[in-house]
Amino acid sequence: MTAPNIKIENLHVSIEGKQIIKGLDLEINGGEIHAVMGPNGTGKSTLASALMGHPKYEITEGTVTFDGEDLLEMEVDERAKAGLFLAMQYPSEISGVTNADFLRSSINARREEGKEISLMKFIRKMDSKMELLDMDESFSQRYLNEGFSGGEKKRNEILQLLMLEPKIAILDEIDSGLDIDALKVVSKGVNDMRNPDFGCLIITHYQRLLNYITPDKVHVMMQGRIVKSGGPELAQRLEEEGYDWIKDELGIKDEVVQTEQA
Ligand SMILES: Nc1ncnc2c1ncn2[C@@H]1O[C@H](COP(=O)(O)OP(=O)(O)OP(=O)(O)O)[C@@H](O)[C@H]1O
Ligand SMILES: [Mg+2]
Repeated sequence: MTAPNIKIENLHVSIEGKQIIKGLDLEINGGEIHAVMGPNGTGKSTLASALMGHPKYEITEGTVTFDGEDLLEMEVDERAKAGLFLAMQYPSEISGVTNADFLRSSINARREEGKEISLMKFIRKMDSKMELLDMDESFSQRYLNEGFSGGEKKRNEILQLLMLEPKIAILDEIDSGLDIDALKVVSKGVNDMRNPDFGCLIITHYQRLLNYITPDKVHVMMQGRIVKSGGPELAQRLEEEGYDWIKDELGIKDEVVQTEQA
């Protein structure tokens, strides 16, 4: 195990009594970028929310450790403090809280009392990260995601990533709705984070993103489990051939989890 490390074993998650994740195994170490791909509704966002500790998602079986500690025992804020980060598929808008205030509070929440980031340091860091992401400086004083376009919200999630410098980040469809320039900018942001103290799980539908962020491993998720893993070439084949060949190979008839309920 190389720190940071997140290790998911035999994870089962249900929501409102419906089993969505059914025995998922995945391990990410520092320095690694993993991509998870899979058809709509197979449980990718459910996995992200469950790992972050969303109260709606019930873990019915399995274990998750974060740097050797039991992640599932931690509250949401403890998970964030420990260094877990989630960029959401649909980021929320929070009126009345500016982007800058939100980021500064978030950074300080992860620090001990008396060791808060100085205002000067914070401003310098925020300026440089916003420049890296080609963001207009007016975004620092706008309310969090309020009125942001789809692409601006995604860019803002990456700003949070760069400011908070988590140990492990889960990026849920960070590329959806991005124009080609924004895609490059967002990729630049993620690549800027690449280092041995950072591990990343990228959930995406498109191989295109992986042209810019080369993953170490690509996993295919179907029916609430990882059914196949490989290198970047796996994403390439999915782009060209879709998911049918995997279903044929594994004898999967339906990729949609909910059909089991019927
Ligand atoms: N709050 C909820 N209530 C009821 N069902 C839910 C809830 N959240 C998720 N589900 C169901 O769980 C299944 C998995 O959803 P999830 O959002 O994890 O899929 P996904 O793999 O992220 O799909 P996409 O690629 O479309 O984002 C879906 O059938 C969805 O309808
Ligand atoms: Mg999703």
